[in-house]
Amino acid sequence: ELSELPAEFAQAVEAIRNAVPPALHRPVWGIICGSGLATLGQSLLDKVEVPYSSIPGFAQSSVAGHKNSLAFGFIASPSGKKVPVVAALGRFHLYEGYTPQQCVFPTRVMRCLGAKAIIVTNASGGINPTYEVGDILALHDHLSLPTLTALNPLVGHNLSLGSRFPPTSDAYDPALRLAFFSEASRQGLLNLSKPKEEQSVREGTYAYVSGPTYESRAECAALRQLGADCVGMSTVPEILAARHCGLRVLAISLITNKVVVTPYADTFAALVAAQQAGGSAGEDVGAKDQKEAANHEEVLEVGKQKSEVIKKLVEGVVGSFVL
Ligand code: 6GU
Repeated sequence: ELSELPAEFAQAVEAIRNAVPPALHRPVWGIICGSGLATLGQSLLDKVEVPYSSIPGFAQSSVAGHKNSLAFGFIASPSGKKVPVVAALGRFHLYEGYTPQQCVFPTRVMRCLGAKAIIVTNASGGINPTYEVGDILALHDHLSLPTLTALNPLVGHNLSLGSRFPPTSDAYDPALRLAFFSEASRQGLLNLSKPKEEQSVREGTYAYVSGPTYESRAECAALRQLGADCVGMSTVPEILAARHCGLRVLAISLITNKVVVTPYADTFAALVAAQQAGGSAGEDVGAKDQKEAANHEEVLEVGKQKSEVIKKLVEGVVGSFVL
């Protein structure tokens, strides 16, 4: 069946299978690790890493916190059965200058290797005011301006991996989401007698933006009005490509910072207040704005703090859910 794949995928699959033992030739799950969340793929049993640079068609991620290799290995189920998986340690983003098609190449290769489902993780900014830093979400929908308006990885010649016009209304597999929450409950991360607003494991709608700039206040407020719960610069392209080629999807997002939807400090009001107080408009005008600004270090730091929790959740789902 290698000969039935589009040539660039057949070549990638061949290079990979030459580099890993036969027991790992057909991973059942693909895992894509977000910023600071690569621990997930680094602790696989019998792990074998294949550098992106050795796989035809793969790009290189230039982002701090992303490695550049596919990790192959096993995750053990509670009954002791070993489930073969492949994890992408590092992903490609539109803001790095890659095309949407390059961004989804690893996802498609996972399908061509034989994967039936992917688990995509990411770090995102919390727009929903009831979210806290460190909350972990199962995504249940997305809002994607880039892919609605042309930066869609499925634009162009339709690859034989799937149909021309795939739906996306069913992209976030309900059975996988339920397995995720069951696992969170089993691990003591949920208290089912409390309302969802008080849980630290939640669900929500992810707004995809191209980045690399973080959103302005007005943009955050607009995304909230449009129905988004969180915002980030990845994941949606992979999910569209996954659905196109028939992969089931579980998407997990870590809230690494709270997004600011309050207006800018009012400089005119500050001037008037300072004048009335007989001084000059304070040095600290703008200090609050600066404190609230998003930054990548904070994203990586929260990722590091929660990577173990997310790893256990993913291992729990992979170990217990039969595809
Ligand atoms: Cl606030 N915005 C975007 N676009 N991506 C993020 C983020 C915010 N926080 C983490 N990743």
